[in-house]
Amino acid sequence: MKIAVPREVLEGERRVALVPESCGKLVKAGIAVAVESGAGESSFFPDPAYRDAGAAVESDAAGLLRVADFVLKVQPPGFRPDLGVHEVDLMRRGAMLLGTLMPTRHPDVASKLAAAGITAFATDRIPRITRAQPMDTLSSMASIAGYKAALLAANALPRYFPMLTTAAGTVFPAKVFVIGAGVAGLSAIATAKRLGAAVEATDTRPAAREQVESLGARFVGVETTESAQDASGYAKELSPEYYRKQAELLAARCASADAVITTALIGGVTAPKLITAEMVRGMRPGSVIVDAAAEGGGNCELTRPGETVTERGVTVLGPRNLPAEMPWHASTLYSRNLTAFVLAFWKDGRFAIDLDDEILRGALVSGGTAP
Ligand code: NAI
Repeated sequence: MKIAVPREVLEGERRVALVPESCGKLVKAGIAVAVESGAGESSFFPDPAYRDAGAAVESDAAGLLRVADFVLKVQPPGFRPDLGVHEVDLMRRGAMLLGTLMPTRHPDVASKLAAAGITAFATDRIPRITRAQPMDTLSSMASIAGYKAALLAANALPRYFPMLTTAAGTVFPAKVFVIGAGVAGLSAIATAKRLGAAVEATDTRPAAREQVESLGARFVGVETTESAQDASGYAKELSPEYYRKQAELLAARCASADAVITTALIGGVTAPKLITAEMVRGMRPGSVIVDAAAEGGGNCELTRPGETVTERGVTVLGPRNLPAEMPWHASTLYSRNLTAFVLAFWKDGRFAIDLDDEILRGALVSGGTAP
């Protein structure tokens, strides 16, 4: 089996799907790996490191994709301006693809893959069961996003995060409010705590309380009897009455915060609008909102994905792709996740597509027959 790793083409994407360390593992298992020349450059994995790990380095991207049995990517496949063609059109019928395909966000790509006869697996659709944890790119990337979001907040704030006793007097710690305490939120909480901020956090899932408190932060939430999560552990939509009560809580907590970090998603994909423009106007000038859910549409009404907006002295940051801002570790962890997926189903010299397996069945976006 030949695995191919093309260079990512989406603007601002600095990650690579496989790093040399993983290529070595796959090659050892008897899988041929080829990467496009320069694929790891922006994450600081140069071509010679791939060669040393036993991978081939190809400068002909079209040729690389045409002969591949299995293409590994970070972003969904897209149009390659340098080649004048869509990546899917370069892949052969029956080839396999693995990446963060987000089919509900990119339904056009999913249909293109189906029409082209590609067997595509989305890492973001892998069920969150114990056996699949080593393959969980959502968690690896969310953890980086939360860490970076806290650093961005600290960087944009015109105040210290920690409490300091100085010769010029005492500085009180910044108040940080984290909305959404899943993987990204918990990582943001831990990072803000390490920087010395006083942190409070909220989530709709009652299970989040204990996790927030275990990090030394204060949990604030709406009292409810509604069930806040679906069978797969994701947050689900709640009643208008719940959201009304939550809006009151959020308005009060945002008004007293110096920095607000939002990470809330429904079903792992869609960002609910939780912070209204009015709530932003109720915040102190100089305070900061980092909307880490900007890519999914944003948790704040004023967020403009990829931009920074200022409203009455409140800075609203809408970073689009936080993991790409830390490409060395993001690529390393992502690559380990993909490698775990490939090797889990690599049996007797072939990638065995068994749709009775809940991981493969869950991840499958199109196709489904072995080449
Ligand atoms: P996510 O990225 O889908 O959502 C982020 C957070 O936003 C979640 O905690 C969610 O409850 C929260 N949220 C949604 N609506 C909200 C609202 N209106 N107000 C405040 N918060 C809101 O979530 P993530 O981080 O991917 O985790 C989802 C669940 O999956 C969690 O229970 C987590 O513990 C679990 N999980 C399980 C794994 C496994 O077993 N392998 C791996 C990773 C996560």
